[in-house]
Amino acid sequence: MFNVGVIGLRMGETHARGIQKISAQITGEKRPYLAALCDTDSVKLKALGEEFGVRKLYTDYRDMIADPTLDAVVIASPDQEHRRMSEDALAAGKHVLCEKPLALTREDLAAIVEAAEKSDRIFMVGQICRFTPGFYKAKELIEQGAIGELTYVESEYAHDYSEIYRAGTWRTDPLRNGVVGGGCHAVDLLRWIAGDPDEVVAYGVHKTFADVTVYDDTHVAILHFPDGVIGKVFCSISCRRPYTMRSVFYGTKGTIITDNTSPSMWLYTQETDEEHPYGCLKGTEIPIDIANHNAAGEFEAFYKAVMGQAPLETPAREGANTIAVCLAIVESAEQRRPVRPDYFRKG
Ligand SMILES: NC(=O)c1ccc[n+]([C@@H]2O[C@H](COP(=O)([O-])OP(=O)(O)OC[C@H]3O[C@@H](n4cnc5c(N)ncnc54)[C@H](O)[C@@H]3O)[C@@H](O)[C@H]2O)c1
Repeated sequence: MFNVGVIGLRMGETHARGIQKISAQITGEKRPYLAALCDTDSVKLKALGEEFGVRKLYTDYRDMIADPTLDAVVIASPDQEHRRMSEDALAAGKHVLCEKPLALTREDLAAIVEAAEKSDRIFMVGQICRFTPGFYKAKELIEQGAIGELTYVESEYAHDYSEIYRAGTWRTDPLRNGVVGGGCHAVDLLRWIAGDPDEVVAYGVHKTFADVTVYDDTHVAILHFPDGVIGKVFCSISCRRPYTMRSVFYGTKGTIITDNTSPSMWLYTQETDEEHPYGCLKGTEIPIDIANHNAAGEFEAFYKAVMGQAPLETPAREGANTIAVCLAIVESAEQRRPVRPDYFRKG
């Protein structure tokens, strides 16, 4: 068995379900197995232990990673815990799948990248949008040339945090700007599709949550990508609307409109015929599974990377570079000037 433990059981509960789903699909000696759970909340831990049929339950992650039979851990604890848990788990010889954002500061990001690259274990950052059906289908269509050459890309992270914000908790930490905490999904999606932006210009506004945060709750950023592609990220943690990540990819020959909360996406292409020598727009609706937290797909990619069956797409450095762009957006908005992201380059 490939024994996996999960730390932090809110998002981690979704991971636990994902692990069990993949476990049921794989046969053989090294099939994944949800072997242990960890949460500081012992009541929640016991309840989920019973629900998942897991007997190894821990309130301290250090006890969990001391178990020599455990092969890997999924870190789904608050962002501020990612660094020490990642370092400790790698030092204990575990493969690690760590939630986004990888960390909140350059110092913590650099430390995790260093620990991950020194280790012979797999370290994957959970950039879950890369496993969202509407987004990976969009990437596939773009790579097949369905919309020609990319010209403009945009993504939004619109997520009203009113119900999950509490003063003095980890989410309202002055370091956990919404762009870093949640906007990193939209930033990572655009980096995945269009490459590393070399410059960003951003603005922010702070009209809500004034009593609990010191940072802006809504941002818009313009980004300049390789090959002259331009783009925009909108990130709001105070918008009054249902959660979505609406994303649009424009190319010389077509456009893709998609998100993570709709059952279909749209592909528009230009077709020419005798009557329309300059082109006529054709729209195709493509049905899509709604799986905006496809933890099973993400875990499967992690498992395959550990087993040497597929390359690792989001190592620590990739997750750190997504946050490097987020930090540039925050800096640009605060200082009212264009900022070049300071990437974690090798060497
Ligand atoms: N990929 C996504 O779409 C997505 C969605 C939600 C959250 N997240 C990420 O997952 C992580 C957790 O977020 P959440 O929303 O589940 O947070 P949460 O605060 O709702 O839940 C965190 C859980 O971890 C437990 N916990 C806290 N400190 C712990 C510790 N030291 N050891 C063990 N357990 C501990 C808490 O008791 C709680 O059950 C964050 O990094 C967040 O950014 C990612």
